[in-house]
Amino acid sequence: MSPPRSGRASLPGTRPVGTHDESAASRQVREMFSCIAPRYDLLNHLLSLRFDVMWRKRLARRFAHILRRPDARVLDVCCGTGDLALALSDTPMDSAASAPALLVGADFAHPMLVRACEKAAGSGRRRLQFVEADALSLPFADETFDFVATAFGFRNLANYSAGLTQLRRILKPGGWLAILEFAEPRGAFFRNLFQFYFRRVLPAIGAVVSGNAQAYSYLPESVARFPAPHELAELMDRNAFDEVAFESWTAGIVTLHKGRARV
Ligand SMILES: C[S@@+](CC[C@H](N)C(=O)[O-])C[C@H]1O[C@@H](n2cnc3c(N)ncnc32)[C@H](O)[C@@H]1O
Repeated sequence: MSPPRSGRASLPGTRPVGTHDESAASRQVREMFSCIAPRYDLLNHLLSLRFDVMWRKRLARRFAHILRRPDARVLDVCCGTGDLALALSDTPMDSAASAPALLVGADFAHPMLVRACEKAAGSGRRRLQFVEADALSLPFADETFDFVATAFGFRNLANYSAGLTQLRRILKPGGWLAILEFAEPRGAFFRNLFQFYFRRVLPAIGAVVSGNAQAYSYLPESVARFPAPHELAELMDRNAFDEVAFESWTAGIVTLHKGRARV
């Protein structure tokens, strides 16, 4: 693959304002999400006009061939309040198919997981399990999962390469990784519109509703720093993923990245 065209891919990972190393960045991210957990779902659906629901369902449909397998072991990493895990467990099954054998959500912000557990219990999905864990040191044995997915979580890791190494480690050889993340739209019109909304409107609404201005100004900042889709694809290739590809959705606002753990 050709070298990255911009310098963003050389950034090791997220750095919320005022943090200069990985442990400070991770700590701040965990505190931020713990703080906004009570309003997280409301703001997610409100600020994305419920597109977030459609994006997670679409991801689940893309990997339905794995989710239908009765022996499939599936992880939603950086699961937050569990919406992707719930979408993965909702994937329509045909009559001959059954649900995955194991479906786990992992996150390091305890209050987010409390909500995930409540939602899973309320929906009757008893086979969904949640684990409090850091994505950079996951408590799973090598080659445990057939499919690892993450929605809007990967961007928050303090070290993207270390994150990919960790996700590669817990995937079985040939297992699939899916990363759904925000991106900056390509066309000038949409990019300007998106930036106005993302940098001005969204932080203002987020601050009022969540009471945490920092968390909702962090969102556009972290997206602006995140590797562009081709850069993340190159990083996945360098971190032992094959069949790396990405697709842009909704005028390029989000990108689905996928790759298979190298055999
Ligand atoms: C924007 S939320 C996304 C939540 C969920 N996946 C969704 O689709 O709504 C990001 C989540 O990633 C989690 N997170 C960030 N860094 C993490 C890490 N190093 N280990 C585990 N979870 C992490 C945060 O606690 C937060 O719940």
